[in-house]
Amino acid sequence: MGSIDLAVFAAGTYFRDYAVGFDSARFRAMVELNLIGTAQCLERVMPAMIARESGQIAVVASVSGYVGLPGAASYGATKAALNVMCEALYPELRSHGVKLSIVNPGFVDTPLTRKNDFPMPFLISAEEAADTIADGLVAGKYEIVFPRKMALAMKVLHALPARVRFALTRRMLKSPS
Ligand SMILES: NC(=O)c1ccc[n+]([C@@H]2O[C@H](COP(=O)([O-])OP(=O)(O)OC[C@H]3O[C@@H](n4cnc5c(N)ncnc54)[C@H](OP(=O)(O)O)[C@@H]3O)[C@@H](O)[C@H]2O)c1
Repeated sequence: MGSIDLAVFAAGTYFRDYAVGFDSARFRAMVELNLIGTAQCLERVMPAMIARESGQIAVVASVSGYVGLPGAASYGATKAALNVMCEALYPELRSHGVKLSIVNPGFVDTPLTRKNDFPMPFLISAEEAADTIADGLVAGKYEIVFPRKMALAMKVLHALPARVRFALTRRMLKSPS
């Protein structure tokens, strides 16, 4: 196999979890796939890219990593961790000539979201998401976040005082499924 020019790490899953019925084994399973799985992929591709001082890596996280939303304790934790991990690795990789991007999508119509039984604001097609990711990678952006309205909503939510943020996120509470 030749050298890898671009590696996109997108494997991941999502299930809802709540305080009632919280299960650390399920939490661990989500961490294993979304976080450790990505770390293992990074471990495999970074050395060769660093050695030849070229290459591009994209890690798919989510805007769910910006804010703790009810039902997304495990998922949000893995996606927040991916954001921090990539932010930590970026400057060093850059100094070795390797580009790193973090992809933070909002809702995209895929088999993963088709099982959701709640309204998904600003839902976009997988084709639109793929085009936006491709454009961002060609432009060499660090963060590729979309759709714009969802990104803005989550960034504003994150910036609000906790009291106001909880008043809003409490409205998202649903019964455990
Ligand atoms: N859809 C959204 O709204 C949305 C929003 C934000 C972030 N994301 C993120 O985008 C990524 C892709 O999600 P998607 O919506 O495209 O979901 P999806 O349709 O369910 O695809 C999930 C992908 O992860 C792979 N995968 C699942 N479990 C795996 C395992 N144990 N080992 C290796 N690969 C595994 C699947 O491979 P197989 O097909 O071989 O099973 C598939 O390619 C995920 O990281 C997700 O968190 C999605």
